[in-house]
Amino acid sequence: QLEKIKELIELREKARLGGGLKRIESQHLKGKYTARERIAMLLDEGSFEEFDMFVEHRCHNFGMENQKYLGDGVVAGYGTIEGRLVYVFAQDFTVFGGSLSEMQAKKICKVMDQAMKMGAPLIGINDSGGARIQEGINALAGYAEIFQRNILASGVIPQISAIFGPCAGGAVYSPALTDFIIMTEGTSYMFLTGPKVVKTVTGEDVTQEQLGGASVHTSKSGVAQFAVQTEEDGMKLIRKLLSFLPQNNLEDPPLFPNDDPIDRLEDSLNEIIPDSPNKPYDMYEVIGAIIDKGEFLEVHADYAKNIIVGFARFNGQTVGIVANQPKYLAGVLDINASRKGARFVRFCDAFNIPIVSLVDVPGFLPGTGQEYGGVITHGAKLLYAYGEATVPKITVTLRKSYGGAHIVMSCKQLRGDINYAWPSAEIAVMGAEGAIEVLYSKEIAAEKDPEKQAAIIEEKKNEYNKLFANPYNAARYGYIDDIIEPRNTRFRIIRALQQLQTKKLVNPPKKHDNLPL
Ligand code: COA
Repeated sequence: QLEKIKELIELREKARLGGGLKRIESQHLKGKYTARERIAMLLDEGSFEEFDMFVEHRCHNFGMENQKYLGDGVVAGYGTIEGRLVYVFAQDFTVFGGSLSEMQAKKICKVMDQAMKMGAPLIGINDSGGARIQEGINALAGYAEIFQRNILASGVIPQISAIFGPCAGGAVYSPALTDFIIMTEGTSYMFLTGPKVVKTVTGEDVTQEQLGGASVHTSKSGVAQFAVQTEEDGMKLIRKLLSFLPQNNLEDPPLFPNDDPIDRLEDSLNEIIPDSPNKPYDMYEVIGAIIDKGEFLEVHADYAKNIIVGFARFNGQTVGIVANQPKYLAGVLDINASRKGARFVRFCDAFNIPIVSLVDVPGFLPGTGQEYGGVITHGAKLLYAYGEATVPKITVTLRKSYGGAHIVMSCKQLRGDINYAWPSAEIAVMGAEGAIEVLYSKEIAAEKDPEKQAAIIEEKKNEYNKLFANPYNAARYGYIDDIIEPRNTRFRIIRALQQLQTKKLVNPPKKHDNLPL
């Protein structure tokens, strides 16, 4: 008996070493942690329970039968984060470069299935050379098994992917199917085809970093939501992100204790809107002033900065914030902003997170670049996301809310529950200048005296502004529920959220929707 226990202990020791001390050292030299170190950093201390430590591959090609490592290149199991159950897998680069084998895929699928059965978040830590080449189709089939589970779990449990090393070829599609991707600066990269293939096919000379590094994916492609300097930062971020989220789509997010007064008046907001409508102000200041203690977890911070999305709390309750940013491209909606906003709104809706929209939008960005890129379809995504969302929706219009963009940004008729406006709001088909141009261009052109012409323009503009550059016209029809004092915005939003707590709304039954993609 004792002998057998000794054997078990020895085997466990062996499994914990993965690909061996030399490879662990080489991993450290690259500035990376091992799979087990990563899991220890992520989870509550001592909470990790491992599955399938003794799994080995069953490949017989290229002499693989003589090269086996316990665990086969991935560490998988469950544990807790702030006491809440999570499932996790971490690829072990020290074993065949973390490459995905048939058996590695089985291990990953096992934790995915458990996560779905238990209704708990799944966290995948990726660091791998992709499909294990020696296994051929079995490795590819393994990926497909994982992707299929990612797809079915989407909108049921939160899925988070950390990319802490290579993630190339087919491997990119598991993270791409999950809700959030976090990449480390300098040590991680994601691409479908590497620099060598790119050079052969297109002639382009690019480095791995230029092709698929953290900054590329968080600012240019939008593939990843977060870039972090270190793996430690990445783990802290995952823990923080989960604190805003429910365990699954049948639960509400956890309620946090809050000591930030709910009726805190923020006088600065009464003065934040500049006198000139063309002058920007910083929407971050508004967000920071109204949420609990100014604590905002921004998502996709470096991508499409003309729209801001992220998580915050009001009186301890999680909300998703979507806000136009007048400081960047005047806060216009464009292709990227629409995609970014739509994905966030849909995530919130799937996970019972109320949405607070702060609107200051002059319209959609004009031009061939946008039209050829399909801004109509992409803009429709945001419209669709808001329109289908059944979670509480609160909209505050701060200043401009023009045309199609007014409709898209959670207007009343898209089943907005509470639509407030500041006195500075301007809700109209377009701004005065554009409108005068369309309505009175002939009349203006007929007047040849420049002074008189300017007077006509001024007169028409004043008339238009008086009628439309205010929130009262929309309020007159009940499209705005109330016009509120800016400094009181926090209190009014909290009151609205309290009112909406028992909201019940269901969409018509269907197999699934046909979101414009
Ligand atoms: N299948 C099998 N073994 C793999 C592998 C794969 N896909 N990727 C890496 N490995 C092995 C390497 O052979 C090496 O083994 P060794 O230490 O016994 O020599 C070990 O993992 C480490 O890889 P190495 O290439 O030395 O590490 P690196 O940090 O220099 O480079 C990569 C990492 C990912 C850039 C490189 O390994 C690579 O290009 N791999 C293939 C990527 C790919 O195209 N995969 C298919 C995608 S579907």
